Amino acid sequence: MNARNIIDLEQISQSDLDEIIRFAGVIRENPSYFIDDCHGNIMATLFYEPSTRTQMSFQTAMLRLGGKLIGFDDPGNSSVSKGESLKDTVRVISNYADIIVIRNSFEGAALAASMYSRCPVINAGDGGHLHPTQTLTDLVTLTYEKGRLDNLTIGLCGDNRNGRTVHSLIKSLAVYPGNRFVLISTPELNAPRYVIDCLEKHGCDYSFSNNLDDVIGDLDVLYMTRIQKERFASNAEYQAQKGVFVLDAKKLAHAKPDLRVLHPLPRVDEIAVEVDDDPRAKYFEQTEYGVFARMALIIKMLESRRVCLPDKVESTHDRRCDNMRCITQTELYLPNLFYEVGESLLCKYCDHAIEK
Ligand code: NCD
Repeated sequence: MNARNIIDLEQISQSDLDEIIRFAGVIRENPSYFIDDCHGNIMATLFYEPSTRTQMSFQTAMLRLGGKLIGFDDPGNSSVSKGESLKDTVRVISNYADIIVIRNSFEGAALAASMYSRCPVINAGDGGHLHPTQTLTDLVTLTYEKGRLDNLTIGLCGDNRNGRTVHSLIKSLAVYPGNRFVLISTPELNAPRYVIDCLEKHGCDYSFSNNLDDVIGDLDVLYMTRIQKERFASNAEYQAQKGVFVLDAKKLAHAKPDLRVLHPLPRVDEIAVEVDDDPRAKYFEQTEYGVFARMALIIKMLESRRVCLPDKVESTHDRRCDNMRCITQTELYLPNLFYEVGESLLCKYCDHAIEK
C-alpha cells in the first residue's frame, strides 16, 4: 500500500481501497488465519476525545491479529495535562509504537500528528472534520450488505454539518459512478462547502431536503447520524436541532424493501428502537464489519510501513487559519498550510476557506 498515514481515505489509491475491502471480506470468512499477523507489533491509541466503538474496534482488531496495545483514553491521565504539545507526545510515542491511532477534538489534529511521527498515523476522528476508518467500515458494510458501491441513491440524514462520518463517506462515495446524494438536514446543519465542492468536482447528482418522509422512498441507503451536541456553541442551539429527524417504523414503511439503514452510532433519539428489528437496519452488523475493516487496514499499513521521521514541512503561505476549531489555533508551532481551489484559499488541516 502506498499511503503511509490514513488522515483522509483520499490518500488510499482506488486499487488499494478495493483490495482492503476485499481483504476485510477474506478476514471475515477466516478470522483464525490471521491471529498472528501482527505478533510483535504495538498499536498506540491516543484518544483525546470520548469513544466507545472506534477505540475498542481498533483495540479488538489489533488483539485479534496478535498485536499489543498502549495508549490513553483520557488525556488528563497523560502528560497532555502538564501542557505537553501534540508534537512532543506523538514524537515520543512513535518511538514506542509501530502504529498510532489518534482522535482529537481539533480539526486537522491527525494530519498535524503525522508530521512528527516516526510510525504511521491513523485518523480516528478529528473534531467535526473527517473519520476515514468509519467510512472504511461503511464501505465494507455496503459492499457485503448491499452488494455494490456504485449506482446508489444515498440519503444522509441528521447533522451533515458537524458529522465527520458524513463528510468522509460523501467524499469516498462521490468517486463511484452513478451515485446520487440526498442531503437531509435542517438548513443550519447542511454539509460544509468542501464536501459540496467534492460532489461538484466528481459531477455527482445531489439534492437537499428537510423532509425525510418525502425522500425515503427513493433511497437505496439511509445513513442516519446523531446531532453532534458537543460541537454546538450553546445548549439552546443544540436543543433547536435535536429530535427534528427520527426514523421510525411508520417512515420505514414507505422505503424500498432492499433499503439499507446505516448509522455510525452512538444513537441518541434519531432512530426509534422498533427499527432495530427491521431486516433493513444494518447498524449493529456495521460495528462488526468495522473490526474486519480495521484488521485489513492495519495489516496492509504495517506491511508497507517505513520507520522514519517525515521531512520537515514549511509554511506554504504567510497566513494563519481563522477556524477556531482548527488544530493550528492551539499548536502554535505548526506551519501554515493552504491549498487553492479557484479563488479560495483552503486550510490543509481543516479544509476551512479563508479570505485570500
Ligand atoms: C461517530 C464519531 O465519533 O464521529 N462515532 C463513531 O466513531 N462510530 C459518530 C458520532 O459520534 O456521532
